Amino acid sequence: MASRRKFINQAATGLAGIAVSPYLMAAQKEIENTTLSPENIIQSSATKGGKWRPKYRYGQGGAPLGGTNGLLVEDDEALSILNNAWNAGMRFYDTSPWYGLGLSERRFGHLLHRKPREEYILSTKVGRILTAAPQPAKTAWAQPDSFDYKYDYSASATRRSVEDSLQRLGISSIDLVFIHDLSPDNGDMKNDWESYFDQAAKGAMPELVKMREEGIIKGWGMGVNTIQPILKALEVSDPDVHLAACQYTLLDHEESIEKLFPACEKKGNSIVVGSPLNNGFLAGADRYNYGGTIPNGFKEKRAKIEKIANAHGVDLRTLALQFCMAPEAVSSVIPGARKAHEPIENVVSFNTQIPQDLWAELKAEKLIHKNAPTR
Ligand SMILES: NC(=O)c1ccc[n+]([C@@H]2O[C@H](COP(=O)([O-])OP(=O)(O)OC[C@H]3O[C@@H](n4cnc5c(N)ncnc54)[C@H](OP(=O)(O)O)[C@@H]3O)[C@@H](O)[C@H]2O)c1
Repeated sequence: MASRRKFINQAATGLAGIAVSPYLMAAQKEIENTTLSPENIIQSSATKGGKWRPKYRYGQGGAPLGGTNGLLVEDDEALSILNNAWNAGMRFYDTSPWYGLGLSERRFGHLLHRKPREEYILSTKVGRILTAAPQPAKTAWAQPDSFDYKYDYSASATRRSVEDSLQRLGISSIDLVFIHDLSPDNGDMKNDWESYFDQAAKGAMPELVKMREEGIIKGWGMGVNTIQPILKALEVSDPDVHLAACQYTLLDHEESIEKLFPACEKKGNSIVVGSPLNNGFLAGADRYNYGGTIPNGFKEKRAKIEKIANAHGVDLRTLALQFCMAPEAVSSVIPGARKAHEPIENVVSFNTQIPQDLWAELKAEKLIHKNAPTR
């Protein structure tokens, strides 16, 4: 109880400088009413199998700050999103050179370069080298910075990419590096992802192992939207943590339960869950993941789950975030945000207890996998 009060006081002090919105007030009220101590929840359990894993159970995703879904986040909104994430207690931040061609990294740096380095965990990615260009490369980002990009998973490009990221961030170290978008679903690779994988197996992977041994980073892994490259990396190298996006959500999780989690656990690796809301679909948006159509039946499935959740007094987004946080193999869950109130609401959701009856009903109705871990 005492520690909960401390958290609330810290959050309230941090929030003092921000315009008080109804969302903030409601969020603070909910945090006060929660029966769980956030300080107990945000720390993950022990390091598994000797592999480093992020100790914070949830964090802030960085893709929307690069302009996902063709939607620009203005500079002042971006700063409010990050300030609110920090003040609400998020201490894990994920970004990438790819997100807005450097824009997301610069924005994260703007928040984090004044924060004590030991108080947060930072991840970014390698695989694309940015070069200044008169016009930004053609991409799906809303208003990216004026850079071109080239795939390069060699050892030298990996080290250069990390150094470039440090310059953009204005921060002297990165904890966790993900090898980005080296995956069969990456249309840019023109069905040739395995050649890129071979380059990474000889270049980026041993280089990241070396950088870990040198103490430059704490861990590395794949940052991808399919599970195949993660399974392959576990076979050919010695990673620690993987960012699996779109692979473990309330709506789609079978392959992770049956293949990904057991393979990771065997090697002591953990998973950071990206896109826990299927790019906003589980927060009510009319889009599913990235650029694709909404799969047949998914709107109906979402409606059925939401109806059951609401009957137990739980909203769908909270249920979706809690679902992702439950497995032992998951070290952290990192929803993105496009509006300033979203990180606060998400922290409240991460600190909400779900009635066990609700999980039982979803299993009985075959709406989630029978072996899905719950908490
Ligand atoms: N290959 C990779 O390595 C990879 C791939 C994908 C994602 N990731 C990482 O995972 C993170 C999370 O994925 P994501 O951001 O793409 O998708 P997501 O977390 O599934 O969904 C984010 C979207 O959900 C909506 N949302 C979030 N909180 C909300 C709230 N409280 N209320 C209402 N709506 C809310 C916002 O949509 P609106 O725009 O509708 O407000 C937001 O843009 C990324 O930011 C990135 O760091 C990595």
